[in-house]
Amino acid sequence: MAHPQAQTTTALVVAIDGPSGSGKSSTARGVAQRLGLAYLDTGAMYRAVTVAYLRSGLQPDQTEQIAALADAVELTVTDDPEAPAISLDGTDVSDEIREPRVSQHVSIVATNTHVRDVLTDQMRALVEAADQRIVVEGRDITTVVWPQAEVRVLLVADPRARMARRQAELDGKLNDADAHDQIVRRDRDDATVSEFATPADGVTLIDSTHLNLEQVIDHICSLAPTPPQE
Ligand code: DC
Repeated sequence: MAHPQAQTTTALVVAIDGPSGSGKSSTARGVAQRLGLAYLDTGAMYRAVTVAYLRSGLQPDQTEQIAALADAVELTVTDDPEAPAISLDGTDVSDEIREPRVSQHVSIVATNTHVRDVLTDQMRALVEAADQRIVVEGRDITTVVWPQAEVRVLLVADPRARMARRQAELDGKLNDADAHDQIVRRDRDDATVSEFATPADGVTLIDSTHLNLEQVIDHICSLAPTPPQE
């Protein structure tokens, strides 16, 4: 994506971390649209490598081969908050990455430390390519990927509220056991590699349990430094 004002604007990276179902994606896209920034969903990158893993037929304990997959695949990310997309080796997998089987297996890929290193490098390159004017959401953006972000937020919500949101997103097609697996079990697995339960120093904690989307977007936008007057 082209960023024509790049030379004249200052960096504004908004880093938003949080567990699944905390409302990160809708919030991050809303903030990007409001502030005129690009948008990067780093979870989509882990999910795209998971699609490659599922296609490969590898087993969860084949960690070296899973690591090699991350080196071999080519991810292409569209960072437009109006139409975010991701391709795997030239094929758009934006819908496939949302399938329940991908959610079920993504922790196998996301807990592989080599995969994390490879994707972290790619995320940093994408932030640079957006001239550091971008909203980035994930689990370790405020702590590992871009801790120097101008705005750093940890977005949390009560697990019951998160399960209910995920079920609503999938039009009630997700039963309680599957919702529990996608939220509580996945948090537990993800927490083995990233700390996203408590905010790091300088990170603003926002609990969205009793807030609506607009209120969360307002709060995050209010944290952005105002541009210097001409
Ligand atoms: O946000 P999500 O549910 O789409 O993320 C998918 C998985 O990727 C999730 O299990 C955690 C992992 N992830 C991560 O470990 N680090 C990130 N920066 C983003 C996502």
